[in-house]
Order: sequence, then C-alpha cells, then structure tokens
Amino acid sequence: MPVVEIENLTKDYEVGFWRKRKVRALDGLTLSVEGGEIFGFLGANGAGKTTTLKLLMRLIYPTAGRARILGRDINDVQMHARIGYLPENPYFYDYLTARELLSYFAELFGYSRTERKRVAAEVLSRVHLDEKSWDKQLRKYSKGMLQRVGLAQALVNDPEIVFLDEPMSGLDPIGRREVRDLIASLRARGTTVFMCSHILSDIEVLCDRVAILNRGRLSETGTLEELRQRAGEDRRIEIMVAGTTAEKLSSVSPALDSAQITPNASGARIEVADERDVDAALAALRIAGGRLVSVQPVRQSLEELFVREVADNQGETWKK
Ligand SMILES: Nc1ncnc2c1ncn2[C@@H]1O[C@H](COP(=O)(O)OP(=O)(O)O)[C@@H](O)[C@H]1O
Ligand SMILES: [Mg+2]
Repeated sequence: MPVVEIENLTKDYEVGFWRKRKVRALDGLTLSVEGGEIFGFLGANGAGKTTTLKLLMRLIYPTAGRARILGRDINDVQMHARIGYLPENPYFYDYLTARELLSYFAELFGYSRTERKRVAAEVLSRVHLDEKSWDKQLRKYSKGMLQRVGLAQALVNDPEIVFLDEPMSGLDPIGRREVRDLIASLRARGTTVFMCSHILSDIEVLCDRVAILNRGRLSETGTLEELRQRAGEDRRIEIMVAGTTAEKLSSVSPALDSAQITPNASGARIEVADERDVDAALAALRIAGGRLVSVQPVRQSLEELFVREVADNQGETWKK
C-alpha cells in the first residue's frame, strides 16, 4: 500500500518586488511511495525537491494538486504526529543543549518527564552524536553535529515515515557512512524513508526506488535497475589487466576487435560490449602473457542517465 501519494502537485512562487511574477517551482508532480521502502528523490540544485517536501509538511501551500501521507490528507494534523522531517538546513535555538532540545521535542510529542530523558538519550545515540557533547550548547556545534541533531529530532516520535532533505549535507566521509547506516537501519525497523539528494552516490547505495526531478518536473521514476536498463549501454564489462600492454593485446587477438583497449600505468583496461566477449578477452590475455586484475560491469550508465536528465539545467553543476 502506498504511504505517500502525490497527485499533480504544483507550486508557483511569487517573485519580484515592483513587478510581481510567478515562477513555477513544481509542475504537476505525481508519484507514490510504498510502505517500507527507501525512496530517493534526486535532482540538481533548484529542481524543486525542497519545495516538494515543504508542501508535504504543510509549511507552504500548493498552487494545485494534492497529496496523502499514510492514507490521510496532508492537512490532517494527527497524521503529522506519525511522521518525521529533517529540513534542508535545520536551525535550532542554539543556547539549548542537544539533550534539552530533544527533551523539548519529546515533550511536544507528549512523552512524560521520565520518558523524555530516555527518548532524548536514545535518539542521540542512534545518530552517533558523541555523548560528551550532549550537554553542550548547540551554538558550539559543527555543521555535521547539527545535522545529527536534526536527524535525532526527526526520529524522536519513532515515526512511521521520515522525510529527509539532503541528510548527508555537511558531513565528512565517516559521518556520511554513519548516516547511511542509520538510514539503512530505519528500513530494517520498517520505517519508510523519503530522502532528497543532489548526490547520486548517496541515493545509489541506499534507495530501493528513485524519482528524478528536473526543473520541477518528474523526468524518471523506477528502481535503480530499471533506470539502468532504460539508460542502456548497461551490458558493457570492464576488464583490468596487468603485466602486458595494450599493443600486445590488440595484436594477439582479432576476436578483441570490438573491444576498446586503453593502456594504463600497470597494463590495460579492456572494455567489451557484453558478457559473451569476456572469454575472448581472457584468452587474449593468456596469449599476451598478462595477469587478470578485475572484471566488473561498467556502472557508468546510471550516472550518464542522470547527467543527461539534468543537462539542460541552466548551467547548474551536477555534483557526484
Ligand atoms: N521562497 C521562494 N521564493 C521564490 N522562489 C523560490 C522559493 N523557494 C524556492 N524557490 C525556487 O524554486 C525552485 C526550486 O527550489 P527548491 O525546491 O529549493 O529546489 P531543490 O531543493 O531541488 O534544490 C528554485 O528555482 C528556487 O529558486
Ligand atoms: Mg533543496
């Protein structure tokens, strides 16, 4: 059963001071998210991801369209108590400590005084915030630490579904890994995750299904595998070899005609059209007297698809 159903959601922002005009940030978005999945909402900066989440959270109002979460209209206040939300740039009253802030959120969700303490400690450890900083004021926190506090805040009510806007932003590689593991652990608990990102690799390792948003319009949706297939060129295989040269390889085997052979520091990279050509390449390698280093599918195509989808995005750079 879908837990998020979005239908024709549209948002125009009014911009300009003297001469007001409307800018369409989201244009007829229709999609649904199934219970228990990690859904990735991907798009370049300015694509409309944050706008979508703000509409779902009822922070702004749609120009047209509607949406349901957990089977309830998004105007249903009680439904909002069952979901969690991490804003893009979480901002908190920074004279509070992390423990105080989380206790406060727990209080808002109706936990008793003793439960608040337990809940605050539990979510702060779940987001791997170092216990030594729990009683420090948030103004002394780094961006990465605040991001964790934001995540803890989103989990305080043990939500059935969480909406995360760029959850990895501001984190170093270790922090990104921890947040990835945390998101994966949410799935293990049965929590549905709807996450926005402009970073393909974060989406690629975590998400069951993705939607790509381009300038306010949905351009692709499906599982990663489906998108890869749609992107085509997926069957190519890369064979890395050492102890021989690209020239030797090309001279020994006419069977390698269709393959692309590129020299590199330790040997060569052979790219074949599909699995059936791997044997020929290995045979050639044996004759040329080299060693096999690795054989793996070329994973380029998904990235190519994303780049193609957002290529006309007004010079916005696509960060990997
Ligand atoms: N409050 C606002 N007023 C006017 N334009 C806005 C406002 N918020 C966002 N926009 C515009 O709407 C578009 C989508 O923005 P946003 O939803 O923040 O994209 P994303 O989160 O994908 O980077 C952008 O062109 C942005 O400039
Ligand atoms: Mg955004």
